[in-house]
Amino acid sequence: MKFPLAVMCMALFSGNLFAETINNSTVTFDHQPILTTQLAATPPMGWSSWNYYGDRINEKVIIDTIDKMVSTGLRDAGYIYVNIDDGWQKYKGSRVDNPLAIDENKFPKGIKYLADYAHKKGMKLGIYSGPGNMTCAGYTGSEGHEKEDAALFASWGVDHLKYDSCCSHQQASQAVLKTAFGNMSEALKATGRPVVYHACHCGWQNIWQWGAKVGANQWRIGQDISDDFNYPGHREDYYFDVLDMIDRGVGLEQYSGKGHWNDYDMLIIGLHGHSKELVGTGASDTEYRTHFSMWSILSSPLLIGANLDNLTAEDLATLTNKEIIALNQDPLGLQAKRVVSNGDLQIFAKPLADGSWAVALLNRSSQTAIMSLNIQQDLDLPWKKMLVRDIGAKRDMGAFEQRYSTEVQSHEAKMLVIRSGW
Ligand code: GAL
Repeated sequence: MKFPLAVMCMALFSGNLFAETINNSTVTFDHQPILTTQLAATPPMGWSSWNYYGDRINEKVIIDTIDKMVSTGLRDAGYIYVNIDDGWQKYKGSRVDNPLAIDENKFPKGIKYLADYAHKKGMKLGIYSGPGNMTCAGYTGSEGHEKEDAALFASWGVDHLKYDSCCSHQQASQAVLKTAFGNMSEALKATGRPVVYHACHCGWQNIWQWGAKVGANQWRIGQDISDDFNYPGHREDYYFDVLDMIDRGVGLEQYSGKGHWNDYDMLIIGLHGHSKELVGTGASDTEYRTHFSMWSILSSPLLIGANLDNLTAEDLATLTNKEIIALNQDPLGLQAKRVVSNGDLQIFAKPLADGSWAVALLNRSSQTAIMSLNIQQDLDLPWKKMLVRDIGAKRDMGAFEQRYSTEVQSHEAKMLVIRSGW
């Protein structure tokens, strides 16, 4: 069955489970029911303190980051959330013995001051807590205090909450987790403030299957990222590198969509092996570009994790490539599928709202390769000709019949937008 785009969009918004033909291709994109919320209608974009600073954060870091996001053009490129991760709390230890309070040595003017500051600059502020009585870094969590904490966050004018389960709920059953995450979701809704809700559960207990049902707008699909493109195995038997994370998301496409996104974890671009918190030795400019391009086409939230002072001109160019960001923020809200897996040479693709397709030719090998996209074979598109634009290079490549071949460097993802030539 072929559906014109308008019909397909209606299906998207009607909330029905569907597996239809998109943009004339029979590559299917099945979907979970769509939430009615307008929150996070496209993947959230912004910055988070954890990947570089860990819990060594303070007011100056947040203010400087907001200012820098404005002056570098990051805000105007779409990065509007500034998310304070773990370590803003005053007390370490269980919530049973300690209240939730702001560490006034780190944040003397409080969190509301920062939210107001962010809002004045046209940005939004995020905060962090968790469903356990302790957070992952050992600070007081929200267990048993969901309503009171949600009300507190809302009174500060917070716009995003990362609610992280790791310490006390790693082994918990789905039923327990659904209640724990659901309680905070309900508490946030009760405040009446639109707060984007990140149910952070490191990809355990198939959270993608039930995250949207408990009101989450995003959920991590894997454990923490390390500052590596391709580390053999998992660093410290725990961390995922860029390629691990990409592999982890294959098959999870149907769970991601408007208002509820598979989260591939925060970006490592600009860390260059110098994070105060993350393990990893850094990646090359090509590898960071590939990481960014893949997170974009896979519709992951895009949260910069670096100290913005350390961004090179190349990092900034990667992070602000408008045509790559447009794949991430496309109104159709689909996560690309892996349509070709020929060893280290893989192709990911997804339809875009305007009838074109986004394509990533990913060369995971250590050598340059010639890669080919065949529109009939790989995407099942009936087009006689395709117009190809290389959006990484920002160049129109011309019209091609059936096949487009190009050289792809080691660890490069060649990013294309193709449209019908006839
Ligand atoms: C981890 C989480 C990190 C960071 C950290 C804070 O569980 O994956 O992204 O939030 O906790 O302690």
